[in-house]
Amino acid sequence: MYDYVSKELPELVESVLPIDPVRRGICGHSMGGHGALVIALRNPGRYQSVSAFAPISNPSTSPWGRAAFSEYLGKEGPQWDQYDASKLVREAPLDLEIRIDLGSADPFREQQLKVEQFVAACRESGQAVSFHLRGGYDHGYFFRDAPADPLAILKQWLARAAELTDRPNPHSLVLSTTGAQGRADARVVLLKHFDHELGYLVFYTNYLSAKGRQLAARPEACGVFHWDRLGLQARVCGPVLMSPGAESDRYFASRGWQSQLAAWASDQSKPASSRAQLEARMNEMAVRFGGNPGDWRKAAPPKTVTRPPHWGRYRLWARTLELWTQGQARLHDRILWSRDLKPAGEGQFRPGAWRAQRLQP
Ligand SMILES: Cc1cc2nc3c(=O)[nH]c(=O)nc-3n(C[C@H](O)[C@H](O)[C@H](O)COP(=O)(O)O)c2cc1C
Repeated sequence: MYDYVSKELPELVESVLPIDPVRRGICGHSMGGHGALVIALRNPGRYQSVSAFAPISNPSTSPWGRAAFSEYLGKEGPQWDQYDASKLVREAPLDLEIRIDLGSADPFREQQLKVEQFVAACRESGQAVSFHLRGGYDHGYFFRDAPADPLAILKQWLARAAELTDRPNPHSLVLSTTGAQGRADARVVLLKHFDHELGYLVFYTNYLSAKGRQLAARPEACGVFHWDRLGLQARVCGPVLMSPGAESDRYFASRGWQSQLAAWASDQSKPASSRAQLEARMNEMAVRFGGNPGDWRKAAPPKTVTRPPHWGRYRLWARTLELWTQGQARLHDRILWSRDLKPAGEGQFRPGAWRAQRLQP
């Protein structure tokens, strides 16, 4: 194992991948943390850094370590020192960055891990060590309960959803708005773009539709994605702003002739007397844009259609983002991230850092 981790595996990886062998690091958890420390300390110059989570740090004095050493190395003797980080570090200081993370509630901390002994030995020999005691965490790997950037996760989920073969509109979302007298309203729209760096969703609609008027009066919304097959739900809430006209023009120009005419013909959300009235409007628009009545039934565009001023793009900026993953026995994982958004010019916000909070399912 020692030769495999310290020599054979790095040689193989470095022979097939463009890796800079000068910047090697090694890390491990618990028994693996012991291995990482020992390998780094026994091979000066081979690693720039070693990091260990809850490592077994002074095995010659711990019950687990003594049992394992007796079995692998025989009776206690100087050969044990070669596998004990707290003994090896006496040869220090080395040109090596050492980082250790330990949970303050780790049940093995005092009897088995003895991380503090290692840190004391480092201090005695002048070896620099960066030691982080994580309040309340146990022997698990994680001292953070939630990833720092939820946008990267949502981006990944959208990509996974796009691969679903049995879901025709994988990027459709339910968009909820607030109507008159604070009444709730909701409908499905299509996500046309997700900016995973700034964190906004883009959709298109009629600015004079019910949702358009509601957003003009109260520019806040929530968008909900649900991917049943993946057991995932994402909820994005925040301010909604119209995008500059040029962005809407570009997208409108890329749409089919029928969709373009429909954007002119439909006074979205207004009452219609009959289907015949809607078709008459489409005939009228086909003629207005250089075709014949009935041409709207064909996909081929006889002429260019300009964007109606009442139709365009919105950005829903994530002020909060909740990611939900289906769990066993209805113990679903829910993490809610929130951040501040400072206005920064037309259609823009300057987002602050995310704060994460786990929620009960
Ligand atoms: C799968 C699907 C995708 C839709 N995408 C959009 C869309 O991107 N934009 C839009 O205005 N309406 C879209 N609609 C229609 C809306 O759900 C809704 O009927 C229409 O926008 C009027 O809503 P409102 O009266 O609340 O404004 C979509 C409907 C479905 C079922």
